[in-house]
Amino acid sequence: MFDEEHSWVGVSLSELYGSQCPWDAPQFPVIKPAYNHEVLFHVSDDGYNEINNQPPKPQSGVDKWDQDYVRMPCSSHSLHPVVEGDTTNLKKRWEIIQNALEKPMKNSQDLEDAILSYNTEFKSIWEFSALHKLFNEYLEEEESKSFFSVTLPAITKLALALPRLVQSPIPLLRLYQSGRSKAVLGKLKCICHYFRKVCMKVPVGVMTFMRVSIPLQDCPEWASSNKLIGGTPLHVDSKKKIEDGTGLIQMNFANRYLGGGVLRRGCVQEEIRMVICPELMVSMLFTEVLAPTEALLTIGCERYSIYSGYSSTFEWAGDYDDTTPYDSSGRRRCAVLAIDATPFRKPEDQYKPEAILRELNKASVSACTSTFEARLSYPGVATGNWGCGAYRGSPHLKSLLQIMACTEARRPIAYYTFDDTKLRNDIINIYKLLSKHNVTVGQLYELILKFNETDVPRSQLYAFIRQALRNEEKSTPSKFEGHVY
Ligand code: AR6
Repeated sequence: MFDEEHSWVGVSLSELYGSQCPWDAPQFPVIKPAYNHEVLFHVSDDGYNEINNQPPKPQSGVDKWDQDYVRMPCSSHSLHPVVEGDTTNLKKRWEIIQNALEKPMKNSQDLEDAILSYNTEFKSIWEFSALHKLFNEYLEEEESKSFFSVTLPAITKLALALPRLVQSPIPLLRLYQSGRSKAVLGKLKCICHYFRKVCMKVPVGVMTFMRVSIPLQDCPEWASSNKLIGGTPLHVDSKKKIEDGTGLIQMNFANRYLGGGVLRRGCVQEEIRMVICPELMVSMLFTEVLAPTEALLTIGCERYSIYSGYSSTFEWAGDYDDTTPYDSSGRRRCAVLAIDATPFRKPEDQYKPEAILRELNKASVSACTSTFEARLSYPGVATGNWGCGAYRGSPHLKSLLQIMACTEARRPIAYYTFDDTKLRNDIINIYKLLSKHNVTVGQLYELILKFNETDVPRSQLYAFIRQALRNEEKSTPSKFEGHVY
């Protein structure tokens, strides 16, 4: 039933949670270091002790300088060429950084000079025009002054504390600004706001970054799946956004190189998510390119900013007071899963069998969290038009593929259609029709492959499915005596 009072259709969120409150779900087991789990802070047997309200105490270790670990700028191995007269000498990078950041910086030019002093190789590559515009034209004079007199000194203090704060090596998760537009300025405002906030009150929580994958040979046999579409609850909302899917695993429509254009001009879902929750950006430091059946799960990020607009109209719209509770390990109970769709230069390519298979397998990494503890604590996935913006996919197809992946993994879905009421209604209608006809994941898979072989216009996938079901019904009436909604 469509609910006129709400922006959603299908089942309610509380049905998805299995209770009224998303936090009733059982918690993750307490964090413990293991062969495949590096913990960069001290944990006691009863977990992270948030009661003291103290920031976590760093775990000590030995610096590692090889291809398996992040090469830290404060490592004694990190050297930087310095030209002195006619000769070029290698100096410790950390000393150059310390020298540069300990000098007072009064404006954005001083900041640019400081950054370039320890990145000389990027002098003619990096551009700082957006930064200058932000501080010289966009912000109020008072705001700029306060940034350079209060926030920036706190940021540099934090940066120079790196050797004290991170004492053990960070493994690489292997297999691993430019522009002057309003959107870029909005992103910079989000990041400045983050630092203003955390420098005033250092957050006490911690985060987990977890690479998750399903070996290709363990991906579902889609053609023979007999799970019924309709076997998994579906909630479809046209007004709310993925980040409103409290307590669910929230999708980040990522680039296979995490972060996409967040530090450049990009300003769509992934980039926006990262600037409103800047702790997510840390993953860019150590996550190698995502393979076809991999994703990155983060637990514990906090949201700091409200925004308005999207893409070129994106703007920082104020402070966000995140009240998400912490789990027993001191992480905010917010799980974000980065999965990269296939970018389609020619949208018609997305219907080809190999493209369908790749997207289904990738979507099943997000759905099939049974192999991860995440399934315990997060009862379903919050998703939407994955791969249907910058990557030019079709929301009609992608919603079905995600429903199939979640059905196969028996995971409830909250689907956010991003202000598109027609799409919301289309999705719930086709889902109900497929459910009514007792269509299985395997049958739907075959239907989609059949659609690829026809010359029916690509925008008519749902019409094609409806017609196919009608034809089947005529030929074998008894087959479709399913339950009626
Ligand atoms: N909640 C729900 N739906 C959303 C939200 C949101 N917060 N934001 C956007 N959408 P896109 P892609 C919908 O283009 O196509 C980045 O640069 C909206 O309908 O971000 O997978 C990455 O780094 C939008 O059109 O994802 C990659 O390089 C659609 O989701 C690349 O873009 C797709 O959002 C990924 O492109």
